[in-house]
Amino acid sequence: MTEALDGPTAASARVDGWRAEGATIGFVPTMGALHEGHLSLVRAAKRRCDRALVSIFVNPLQFAPGEDLDRYPRDFEGDREKLASAGCDAVFTATPEEMYPDDFSTYVVEDRLSATLEGESRPTHFRGVLTVVCKLFHVARPDVAFFGQKDAQQALLIRRMVRDLGFPLEVSIEPIVRDADGLALSSRNVYLSPDERARALSLSRALAAARAAFDGGERDAAELRAAARRTIEEGGVEPEYLEVRDAGTLAPLERVTERALVLVAARVGKTRLIDNAVLGGDAL
Ligand code: PAF
Repeated sequence: MTEALDGPTAASARVDGWRAEGATIGFVPTMGALHEGHLSLVRAAKRRCDRALVSIFVNPLQFAPGEDLDRYPRDFEGDREKLASAGCDAVFTATPEEMYPDDFSTYVVEDRLSATLEGESRPTHFRGVLTVVCKLFHVARPDVAFFGQKDAQQALLIRRMVRDLGFPLEVSIEPIVRDADGLALSSRNVYLSPDERARALSLSRALAAARAAFDGGERDAAELRAAARRTIEEGGVEPEYLEVRDAGTLAPLERVTERALVLVAARVGKTRLIDNAVLGGDAL
């Protein structure tokens, strides 16, 4: 059974208890609407640590006006059952009031990795993510925090924040979980109509095309991008970006000599989807 902790103060007290027992803590921050991707993070936390703690908080600070904050899917009871099935020890929720007092005015801003890709179309997004993750780390005080490679830029930024600000924890980035047809799992996939879902497959197909070209010996980033772009456009989807970047710094590449990331974002209907693949390695 997964214990439901009512708010950050209760969660912090539970963490104190675990620490007093000498238990290690694996932490999985989420916004709820959990799917197999989240559960794979919980299972990884259970493999690596004595206790797995999950947070569910739909963080208003990372949504811009006009984004889907109000209609973001929420299902706490369903989430709790799924967490129990994955062996999660405890879950806590928080309210915006608990996280952000009225006169809240302090933020965590990274200004290199966050300036590109997602940061270009969502300029305040990563400030919101880093600020809430920083606050959640203070509550959970984990030994290891788990994030999905699906949000690769987010995961790399959090790893950078942990390094730069000296948080005493490890960031583990876990592989993308996909449906059988290749669609990367995302809480936002519920927005897709059957027709849009079929078109959304062209994102993972585009990444597969880049990977096939890479496996065939292609190292020119423009050629790898072109292979991916042809595939996504054949599927009737216009990418917002489709880039080949260094897998550590997200710097643009001309040739792929080290591990690289192919990253894509596209709107399918009204739903904005992102996906990525590592070239020259399996994990980030
Ligand atoms: O990836 C998410 O679900 C969110 O960005 C996170 C890391 C939980 C912060 O709100």
